[in-house]
Amino acid sequence: MAKTIVQTKPIFIGGATVALLMVWTLWPWPRPLFPTMFQVTKSKLTPATPNCTTDAHGVNICHDDPLNPTFYDDPNLSYTIEIPIKDWDVKRRDWLEHHPSYAAGAGDRVVVLSGSQPWPCKNPIGDHLLLRLFKNKVDYCRINGYDLFYNNAMLHPKMASYWAKIPIVRAAMVAHPEAEWIFWVDSDAVFTDMDFKPPLERYKNHNLVVDGWPNLIYEKKSWIGVNAGVFLIRNCQWSMDFLEVWAGMGPQTPNYEKWGQILTSTLKDKMYPVSDDQSALVYLLLKGKYKWRKKIYIENKYTLSGYWAGIVDSLTKMEESYLRRAKGVRELRRPHAEVVREYYAAAVREAIVKEGDGGGAPRPFITHFTGCQPCSGNHPGYTDEACWNGIEKAINFADNQVLRNYGFARPDLLNSSSLSPLSFDFPS
Ligand SMILES: *[C@@H]1O[C@H](CO)[C@@H](O)[C@H](O)[C@H]1NC(C)=O
Ligand SMILES: *[C@@H]1O[C@H](CO)[C@@H](O)[C@H](O)[C@H]1NC(C)=O
Ligand SMILES: *[C@@H]1O[C@H](CO)[C@@H](O)[C@H](O)[C@H]1NC(C)=O
Repeated sequence: MAKTIVQTKPIFIGGATVALLMVWTLWPWPRPLFPTMFQVTKSKLTPATPNCTTDAHGVNICHDDPLNPTFYDDPNLSYTIEIPIKDWDVKRRDWLEHHPSYAAGAGDRVVVLSGSQPWPCKNPIGDHLLLRLFKNKVDYCRINGYDLFYNNAMLHPKMASYWAKIPIVRAAMVAHPEAEWIFWVDSDAVFTDMDFKPPLERYKNHNLVVDGWPNLIYEKKSWIGVNAGVFLIRNCQWSMDFLEVWAGMGPQTPNYEKWGQILTSTLKDKMYPVSDDQSALVYLLLKGKYKWRKKIYIENKYTLSGYWAGIVDSLTKMEESYLRRAKGVRELRRPHAEVVREYYAAAVREAIVKEGDGGGAPRPFITHFTGCQPCSGNHPGYTDEACWNGIEKAINFADNQVLRNYGFARPDLLNSSSLSPLSFDFPS
């Protein structure tokens, strides 16, 4: 049963998950990008000297925008998906060159994006769920030092529901030249491991990272071969071009209906002839130019976008197993500041590695409530109870990881009102 539901997801999820949500060509862009950038930055100091301070993460921030013109001064600059940007790599590098404090560390800077519809939820508890899902993303980003942009404006009037993320990702690339990666996370996806960061080093030769299975894509030609609701995309010209091609199958184009037919005849298990972003992505992997496929990393070594129904039942046991192991780590038995959390998380990981695989599976990084549509409450095939309890459990599982830094935890993952103070053990 679950399978059928998963297959029908984009169609029904459509309206609601609403996972809304110039040229200073100085030299050709060398690869690899960033090592060279630092040298460039050192040798070609900007004439304007901005006033700098240090931000909460210890990053040196220069508040002045140096006077040198950048792509932002180009009257042709456009944030919209409908007007292509050319030479983006050069433009972005030029901006970084004029903002050296941001150039440092630009190679692995991540901006997380998420969003939901501009109007209130139909489901009476939908807005409450969206708030808690939003809080989960705020917590994850604070702990991991990522910026978060949550959008609830429809940037293209015709690109609604699952198509809405494409124009916002595109605009964010222009708005965040300081970030190498844009990390799109659907509103109905929960970070269930607050201490896991995507292994960016693994993606150094790729520009788009998405959860999926190559055999489902290339052999089964299945539209659920990837999950397009969570992805990392590099802030570069390739991505600008890719988003344009991807959006080319969307509802704002005259070819929208035609693409619905093509996708349905190409993908064996796609049941409705309506073009959706996920099928379009699988299609580009299957039939698109090699230059797309070559730069797309299909990730399945960790749970970049885990199907909730296969996860939520194991969360209570998983929490117990983590706590048991954490107890074995001396430093973890006393309280510590949230800002030094990374160090402690590393200690638990080390303890787990030492203990071997006897202690259970690692936490899923992201648990995705595909098909639950918390905002509309429209989830054919799933009961209210399954979706609501599942989301509550996943959110509390994640929130306990946060609350522990504040001296509390919820003993019952299914009861958000229950809360217990932690008892610490102060090693002498
Ligand atoms: C802006 O675009 C127009 C039309 O494509 C072009 O003629 C003009 O040179 C462009 N301006 C700049 C500053 O690139
Ligand atoms: C930057 O610092 C200089 C020297 O202290 C000062 O004259 C100038 O007003 C400052 N600029 C801003 C924008 O604060
Ligand atoms: C949830 O926890 C609160 C506080 O401990 C308790 O009063 C309430 O009865 C619990 N609700 C359920 C459904 O167990």
